[in-house]
Amino acid sequence: MKKRIFLIALGLTVSAGCPLANVQNNEPADSEVHAKVKQARVHAKALGGALKSRLKQAMQSGGLEAGVQECQLAAEPITESLSQNGWEVGRTALKVRNPNNAPDEWEREQLALFASLLERTKLKGKQPPTPMDTYKYDSNSGEFRYMMAIQQGQVCMACHGVQVAPSVEETILKYYPKDEATGFELGELRGAFTLTYSPQ
Ligand code: HEC
Repeated sequence: MKKRIFLIALGLTVSAGCPLANVQNNEPADSEVHAKVKQARVHAKALGGALKSRLKQAMQSGGLEAGVQECQLAAEPITESLSQNGWEVGRTALKVRNPNNAPDEWEREQLALFASLLERTKLKGKQPPTPMDTYKYDSNSGEFRYMMAIQQGQVCMACHGVQVAPSVEETILKYYPKDEATGFELGELRGAFTLTYSPQ
């Protein structure tokens, strides 16, 4: 089971087209699934872009503490506003800051696969595939799920890194007393965009 999903992740990312033969379940409408993968990638990038630009604005005007507050205020409304036409978009991680972002079982499995794929490509001195993503399609219900890995970047270090400044940590803990999302190294898996399409 795990191996099969891993293959989907790899297959999806190493080839430009979608390896539709790997789709779980029988007889999916190939072109429809392919279209969903493309749409999911667009939605995931839109969410990432919207969050980053809000974060950047807040940090430019008020520093890191303002960035934390902005994330706290804006992340959920942004994800809600981008959840339209049957799509639900969001973020998740193995270690979360906001408990509402905690992964379900399928998401947890995919996150573990992304993490091990990143680890292995690093050990081999190779670049990870971009985008690193995976999906599953249920041909009975028509439900389509998709995830795209998010790596820890340089700008993320101040709030999710190994050494978070005490004043920033204080602000984080004020809003997220159960924060687990620090201690990430550069390039490590930070989390993933997670999307679900349910037919309407
Ligand atoms: C100014 C501080 C700050 C910076 C910089 C920052 N984040 Fe966050 N991040 C937060 C806060 C606050 C949350 C919780 C948002 C919420 O309530 O959903 C969060 C949540 C997340 C989540 C959702 C999962 C979770 O832990 O709840 C991911 C994924 C994430 N950040 C990735 C990143 C990445 C990747 C970067 C760098 C591009 C980054 N963050 C930069 C503060 C920050």
